[in-house]
Amino acid sequence: MTGRPRPAISALPAYKPGRSAAAAEADHGIADAIKLASNEAPFGPLPSVAGAISSGVEQINLYADHGASALREDIAAAVKVDVDQVTVGAGSAGILQQLLLAYCDRGDEVAMCWPSFEAYPVFAMLVEAEQVRVPLRNETFDLDALAAAITPATKIVFVTNPNNPTGTTVGTDDIAAFLDRVPTTCLVVLDEAYAEFVTDPRVTDSMRLLADHDNLIITRTFSKAHGLAGLRVGYAVGHPDVVSMVDRTLVPFAVNGLAQRAARASLAASDEMRERVATVIAERTRVADTLRSAGWTVPDAQANFVWLPVGDVAADLGVRLERRGVVTRAFPDVGVRVTISDATGNDRFLAALADCDITPR
Ligand SMILES: Cc1ncc(COP(=O)(O)O)c(C=O)c1O
Repeated sequence: MTGRPRPAISALPAYKPGRSAAAAEADHGIADAIKLASNEAPFGPLPSVAGAISSGVEQINLYADHGASALREDIAAAVKVDVDQVTVGAGSAGILQQLLLAYCDRGDEVAMCWPSFEAYPVFAMLVEAEQVRVPLRNETFDLDALAAAITPATKIVFVTNPNNPTGTTVGTDDIAAFLDRVPTTCLVVLDEAYAEFVTDPRVTDSMRLLADHDNLIITRTFSKAHGLAGLRVGYAVGHPDVVSMVDRTLVPFAVNGLAQRAARASLAASDEMRERVATVIAERTRVADTLRSAGWTVPDAQANFVWLPVGDVAADLGVRLERRGVVTRAFPDVGVRVTISDATGNDRFLAALADCDITPR
């Protein structure tokens, strides 16, 4: 071992990104594989966003605005909060990591339902916090059980709405009731990476909850609905004190200038963004209905993916789909998550699944 790494880091499993189509092609000797494994948008940037990126290229010799102040102002206006309630980071994953760095020491507890976003445990391990994992109920965040799991040592509790990988939602009124049960010494991180895809009427504007709960921080991203995953830009909205702590942990200039420009242009074109999201939602309904008609159990899908809770055949199903050129995300013994793509990509998935020779369950 070179040098003396912290034991917590040498024990850390690397974050596992979704497998690339190229890796699947090489492994299985196939061509034309598609990747439906990372919940990416099936479309490139909006024309105005592409324009903003190209015109920003001439300035990449310069450091960008570290505080991303213009973008913060645009976000504050878009979600109707004060600008000092907004922070910006390198993807919402970057902000989640910053939150753990800012709030958790060795031995503090971080609570979450499980399965959920796989980066939470990695970030908890990074700061040597203890993870408290509460099982989902009916593939959905169990807010009662999660509230009951909070102890005086809990510094952060995650609520993922919609949840990844199951795609299910909890109602905003239920989150309000949950917040009433959480001590103010514990931050509630409401991860809304997929908020724009939600059609469940029980989910309303969560920003209103901030007025009564200084310990609530809501994270969102430009990676999914805005289709800017490759540029790494996300934001969080919360109490100015929390924003200030998060800001202290940002790597200098982590949110690059192209990302800031693209995010601003995308916010300015939110009607176009919503049109694109509507096509993903329509495809999500079509895919989920087709799967259910074929006999598969598909929980309510509120994000840009569907979840097949197939249990012990998950890993096998993932490999069979991959051999047929469709790379999904298999969670061994739990289920398979499939990103909604355009109609062609979704048809490829449905055809591959039908060909897999696994009885729907
Ligand atoms: C629930 C959830 N939160 C956060 C993220 C992080 O996204 P990003 O860092 O691209 O904003 C993801 C990405 O897949 C996610 O699924």
